Parts: sequence; structure tokens; C-alpha cells
Amino acid sequence: MTVRVGIIGTGVMGADHAITLRDLVPGATVEAVSDVDPSRAASVGVRVVTDPLALIEDSDIDAVLIASSDATHEQFVLACLAAGKPALCEKPLAAEVAGCQRIVAAEADLGRRLLSVGFMRRYDPGYVALKHTLDAGDLGAPLLLHCVHRNVSAPDWFTSDMVITNSASHEIDTTRWLFGDEIAAVTVHEPRRSAALADPVLLVFETVPGVLVDAEVFVNARYGYDVRCELVGERGLASASGPVTADWRDRFAEAYRLELTDWVDGVQAGEARGASAWDGYVASAVARAGVAALGAGRIAVELPAKPALYK
Ligand code: NAI
Repeated sequence: MTVRVGIIGTGVMGADHAITLRDLVPGATVEAVSDVDPSRAASVGVRVVTDPLALIEDSDIDAVLIASSDATHEQFVLACLAAGKPALCEKPLAAEVAGCQRIVAAEADLGRRLLSVGFMRRYDPGYVALKHTLDAGDLGAPLLLHCVHRNVSAPDWFTSDMVITNSASHEIDTTRWLFGDEIAAVTVHEPRRSAALADPVLLVFETVPGVLVDAEVFVNARYGYDVRCELVGERGLASASGPVTADWRDRFAEAYRLELTDWVDGVQAGEARGASAWDGYVASAVARAGVAALGAGRIAVELPAKPALYK
């Protein structure tokens, strides 16, 4: 079966995902798109549905990719659950932690997973190889993870909170996925400020078994988009790195292709793959603790019990 995908939001990410789905993902077609900006929607060159909720309901759409602005995610994700449509939502799952909780509750009520969240580093070949090395036991028990996440520049509407909620959310998800453990506490350090916002910041995550993760997040690093990490284990080191690029699209092009391929394969198989709604919720909850820690020091992360659906 060919999966007929509808895309909501055809800005930078949505337009890029449309090209990847069309050219590089077997078994998928981009059936229709929706964007509040009609020229952006038209630029994809497929059928345009003006109302995103009508696109979700459309009987010619099998699965929905949500790549619109953060504030719109919750509404569209909940509509996908109500319509019984599989959806891949770009991160964050919702703009606020409470919105993520409403989505988790709705999916748990439904009793089956339909949602995936766009944490694409889980598909990056370098990060996947690092996880295989760790899981094979070659490094012994993990002790430390050093992460670097640098962007060329952030838009002028970027806030200090967003350095954590928008950018560091990838390191939060990477930490949970790599180790399979929750983050128990977050500490945030700020060097002398080089900009009006807290940038760079140095976050320290403590996982439940006691691995320490430091993450430098610097959204105005100027020289390039540079994402990598090094894992220190009892018996050795391993790292994940990639080229320094102009932005995330080149650095993670292969990860996006593999993410979309796995999503489409999962839709065909009737299962949701990749980061779950629960993972999206926890990333937002830990990021919120990070925002609280900015200027306040260390904040413990309190999570509710995981619903049975996600165990
Ligand atoms: P963008 O601003 O380029 O695109 C967003 C699009 O959504 C715009 O075309 C806008 O007109 C449209 N839109 C806004 N409200 C809408 C509505 N109610 N209905 C339909 N369309 C609407 O932003 P960008 O960079 O493409 O980001 C999109 C999403 O992807 C964001 O949630 C962002 O956090 C996420 N993202 C994820 C990345 C990743 O590596 N996984 C990287 C960059 C962004």
C-alpha cells in the first residue's frame, strides 16, 4: 500500500520533508499540503487544502506530517488522534508541557499508538552507531556524555527559554534514548553573556542511574551548525560527529530520510515508530525544568507514572 501523506506547514521543515518523501522514501506520496501562507503551500506543487483540519479528515490522506509552528501542534495532533490517523509531529509535541500531557492522555485513552515525534537524532547513523557500541557493552557502564550543539545564528525572536526548549530538547531526547533512562535533575550554567539572551548555556543532566551529561548549547556560534557528542564509559570512549554545515538540514539529511522511511514503513505495518508522545512529553517536561534551572541552579525533574501504553 502506498501511504498518502498530508503535510501541515510547508515552511523550512515541511517543504524539505515533502521533497524527501517524494524523492527518497519508497511507498509514500505527498497527497496534499496545508499552510496558512498560500504561496508556501502552492510551492510544493501538490493539491492544497486550505483548512488543515479538513486535510486531517480527508479520506484520501492516510497519514499526517505536522511541521507547522509549535503553537499549532497540539490542535493538529489531537485532531489526528480523533480521526484515527497516524501522525508524525515535528518537535515539540506541543508548545507547553500541559499540552503534551493532554496529548498523552488522549492517546492513552485511545489505547493504541498513532503518534511519532520528530526527534531525528535517533536515526542519525553516527548516533545510532554510538548506541550500538554502548549497548554491545564494549565501553562498560556509561559515566559521562559530553554534547555540543551549535547553530550559526538564531532568529531575533529567539528567547533564552527557547535555547533550552527548542534547541536543548534534542540533547534531552538523545540522553533518554541513548541510555534508556530518565533524567532526574537539570542544572544550567551560564558563562559571561555574549548576547541579550542566555547563549551559550551549559546544561548538566543527571540520569537516574547517575550518568552525568553536559551539553553546550550555543545558538549564535557564527561559524557553522555543529552537533556532536562523546561518551565516556568505564572501559572506553566513543563519539558521534558529523560535518560542520550551514544548518541542520545538511547535517541531518540522512537522519530525516531514515526517520521518514521508518515512519512510512510503520504506517504500512500499522505501528507507530520512533519517539513516542510520551517521549515528546518528557522532553518538554525536562526542558521546562531546565528553564526553571536557568538562573536558579539545580532543579529535580518530577514525572508522573508512565501510562501502560508506553511501557
Ligand atoms: P517555518 O516557520 O519555516 O514553517 C512553519 C510553517 O507553518 C509556516 O509556513 C507557517 O505559515 C505554517 N503555519 C503556521 N501556522 C499554521 C497553521 N495554523 N496552519 C497551517 N500552517 C501553519 O518553521 P520551521 O523551521 O519549518 O519549523 C517547523 C516545525 O519544525 C517547528 O515546530 C520546529 O520546532 C520544528 N523543527 C524541527 C527541526 C528538527 O530538526 N527536528 C528543525 C527545525 C524545526
